[in-house]
Amino acid sequence: MTRFETGTSNAQAVNAPLAIRAEDLSKVYTGEGAPVTVFSGLSFAVEEGVLAAVMGPSGVGKSTLLHLLGGIDRPDSGRVEILGASLEGMRPRERARFRNENVGFVFQFHHLLPEFTAEENVAFPHRIAGVAEREARRLARELLARVGLADRGHHGARALSGGEQQRVAIARALARGPRLLLADEPTGNLDAAAAHSVFELLRELHRERRMTTVVVTHNPDLAGRCDRLFTMSREGIAASVRLSERG
Ligand SMILES: Nc1ncnc2c1ncn2[C@@H]1O[C@H](COP(=O)(O)OP(=O)(O)OP(=O)(O)O)[C@@H](O)[C@H]1O
Ligand SMILES: [Mg+2]
Repeated sequence: MTRFETGTSNAQAVNAPLAIRAEDLSKVYTGEGAPVTVFSGLSFAVEEGVLAAVMGPSGVGKSTLLHLLGGIDRPDSGRVEILGASLEGMRPRERARFRNENVGFVFQFHHLLPEFTAEENVAFPHRIAGVAEREARRLARELLARVGLADRGHHGARALSGGEQQRVAIARALARGPRLLLADEPTGNLDAAAAHSVFELLRELHRERRMTTVVVTHNPDLAGRCDRLFTMSREGIAASVRLSERG
């Protein structure tokens, strides 16, 4: 059902090991109504170091796919390997630890803790990992400065613009230095200028930190600035190779 192309790619990705290997994934939501089959037999692979965009119509299962790749949700069948480790082979607690150490998530609806300041939001992953408060806050301030919010650390999350909130969400996702970043429409609610600048920030951080990054977006211009574009449809997911415009 699914076209699965690894194909040739940009120089950076040739012969690189896979950061993501998802095979034959199926996901069915069973709730109050009739079961919803989001996809079945879906396969997807991304080489290490690649910045990949995923596009596709609303409801096709892009967020669902990211949740499966990040181990936040489990497929009904199929396998996910991240950075060479099989998520299926892990117990839930081990999977949670693996995720905290290796995967950063920028959620479609950014999920900042509204009662907390920007600094506290970014310090949070460090606190969960057992870092002492003072050091966690120092690291958070450093990262907030990197995303252009040095002077917003003490603002409550609610007192930030949409673009600023997305920068905080990105900083929070990067706090623990993940090797894989999954970003679900990180510019979805922003005007064109803010979307462009948040996306450029993501690209810079992707490069600086040598991560593998998957970005879901509805914006073809932004997708065109990635190394690879995957298009998701009811039939599955197909890769097309693009050269990035990075200079
Ligand atoms: N918890 C859930 N229970 C039942 N159905 C769900 C659940 N979450 C998602 N779905 C359904 O699964 C399908 C895929 O949803 P998903 O959020 O992955 O789509 P998407 O491609 O990310 O869409 P969008 O571009 O609008 O964000 C949709 O039809 C949605 O209604
Ligand atoms: Mg979505």
